[in-house]
Amino acid sequence: MKIQTVATMPFDDQKPGTSGLRKKVAAFKTPAYLENFVQAIFDSITAPVGSVLVLGGDGRYYNCEAIQIILRMAAANGFAKVLVGQGGILSTPAASCVIRKTRSFGGIILSASHNPGGPEGDFGIKYNTGNGGPAPEKITEAIYACSRSLTQYRIADAADVNLDRIGCQMVGDMNVEVIDPVADYAELMESLFDFAAIRALIGGGFRLCFDAMHAVTGPYAIEILEKRLGAPAGTVINGVPLPDFGEGHPDPNLTYAHELVAIMYGADRASTPDFGAASDGDGDRNMILGRHFFVNPSDSLAIIAANATQAPGYVAGLAGIARSMPTSAAADRVADKLGIPCFETPTGWKFFGNLMDAGKVTLCGEESFGTGSSHVREKDGLWAVLFWLNILAKRRLSVEEIVHRHWAEYGRNVYSRHDYEALPADIAAELMAHVKSQFADLPGRRLGDYTVKFCDDFSYTDPIDGSVSSGQGLRIGFKDGSRIVFRLSGTGTEGATLRIYLEAYSSDPATQRADAQQALEPLIDIAHDLSQLKQRTGRESPTVIT
Ligand code: G1P
Ligand code: ZN
Repeated sequence: MKIQTVATMPFDDQKPGTSGLRKKVAAFKTPAYLENFVQAIFDSITAPVGSVLVLGGDGRYYNCEAIQIILRMAAANGFAKVLVGQGGILSTPAASCVIRKTRSFGGIILSASHNPGGPEGDFGIKYNTGNGGPAPEKITEAIYACSRSLTQYRIADAADVNLDRIGCQMVGDMNVEVIDPVADYAELMESLFDFAAIRALIGGGFRLCFDAMHAVTGPYAIEILEKRLGAPAGTVINGVPLPDFGEGHPDPNLTYAHELVAIMYGADRASTPDFGAASDGDGDRNMILGRHFFVNPSDSLAIIAANATQAPGYVAGLAGIARSMPTSAAADRVADKLGIPCFETPTGWKFFGNLMDAGKVTLCGEESFGTGSSHVREKDGLWAVLFWLNILAKRRLSVEEIVHRHWAEYGRNVYSRHDYEALPADIAAELMAHVKSQFADLPGRRLGDYTVKFCDDFSYTDPIDGSVSSGQGLRIGFKDGSRIVFRLSGTGTEGATLRIYLEAYSSDPATQRADAQQALEPLIDIAHDLSQLKQRTGRESPTVIT
C-alpha cells in the first residue's frame, strides 16, 4: 500500500461543539480541512493497529466524497477494517448500534443533524467511542488541541470503494465491508418492543404517518413500519434520503415538519391519522403527534418513563432517568414516584454516556426532541416512535388521552423553548453577561407573580469520572418550581443562537390543558425584562418556538 504523508497547516476553528464539528460545506471543502480534522481524530484516539472502525452518515451533500477520503486515511493510519453503511448511509443511532454489536474501536458519523444540507448548507463530523456514544469532552478537547498543532496527515493512494455493493473490498491493505445499514438496527428494535401487539394495533385500523423529511430515516422507517409492522405503503412520507433533504430543514418540530403537521391537523378530523411522527437529518430526534395534538418532548420522556414496563425490553423497570438541564422536570416527577434516581446533566447526549455505562440510568432525554435509552449510546428517533406505538398498542387510548391522564396524575410542567437565531455573537454574549450580572440581587425578589428561589450558571460534576463542565446555561428558579433558562447554542454555524427555556408547573387539572404559550406569558415577560431582549437584539419575536 502506498501511503502519502502530506504536509499541512493547522486550522484554528476545529473545536467540536455540542455534537461534533459542524461547518458550512464550503469550509469542509477547503483543501485539507476535512483531512486535518480526521487526522486529529486518529492522532488523539490512538487506536491500536488492527482496530475496526464504523463509518457512515446521514446522506447529505458531500457525504460520499468525505467517506472516500476517510477510508483512504483510515487505511494509512493502520486500521484493519472499516464497516461502512451501504450508500454511505448510517443513521446516528444505527451507527451506535453497529459499533456496540461489532465491538468496534469507535466510529465516525458524518452529519450536521437537523441543519440544512446541500452545497450551501452544513456538513458535520463526529467521533464516537467504543461504547457507541459521542466522544466525551476530554477526547473532543484532545482532538481540538491536536488540530491546532497538526503538521501532516496520512492518506493511502487507492481507488474509490463502490459504496453500493454489499460485501468486502480492499483499500490498500485495509478491508472495507459495506453493510446493510438497516438490518442490525431493525433487529435490535424487534428485540425491545412488542411487534406483534403493534402489528395488531395497525391491523385493527389504527392509522399512522411518519415523515422522514428526505433524511436518513426513510429506509429504516420503511423497513420497520411498513415491512415488519404491516403499515400500508405510503405510511412513510418523504422516505428517500436526498443530499439537500429536498431543500427542507430536517428538524422534526412544528415549524419545519410542516407537511406532517398539515396532515395531523387536517380539517377533516375523521380522516386524520391517529399518530404522526417525524425524525431529523441523522435519525436521532423525534417528534410525536396525536390527532390535532402535539406531545412536548419533555412530556414524552416522562410518559415513556411512566409506561416503560409496557415494552418487553423494559419490563424489568428502569435503573434511573437522566435529562439535560433545560429539559422540563416532568421526568423527575415520574422518577420520584418510581423511587429511582433522576440526573440533571448539561445539554448534549455525550453527558449521558457515563451514566448509562455505569448502569445508573436506562432512559435519557432532552427537550430538543431527543429521547433514548441504554440500548445504544445516542438518542434514537425511531426508537421513541416505536415506544409510543408499543404504549398505544397496550393501552388502547389516543395520544391525547395518554398525555391528559399523565398530567392529571403528575401535574403538568408547561414548557416551551424560544430560539433567537443568527444574532451577532457579541450582542448575544453581552445579553448573557447582563442576565448573569443580576444574579447576586435576584434571590428572594418578586417578579410578577413569581418569587426567585435561586439563580446560577449551571455547572455539572460527572458522578462517574468527576469531570466538571461549567458555563452550561443561566438558570433562574422560582419558588413554585417554575423556571427560566438562558443558554447559547453550541451547534449553530451562523452567529449566535440564544435559547430561552420556559417552564411553569401546574398541578390544577382545571387549567392544565391551556395553550402553553398563553400559560407561559408572564414568564416570557420576565425573561424579556431580565435580558433586555428587545433593546439589545432588536428582535420582536423568536425565530423558532418549540
Ligand atoms: C442542540 C440541542 C441539544 C442537542 C444538540 C444535538 O444543541 O439543544 O439538546 O443535544 O442540539 O442534537 P445546542 O444547539 O442547543 O447546543
Ligand atoms: Zn440529529
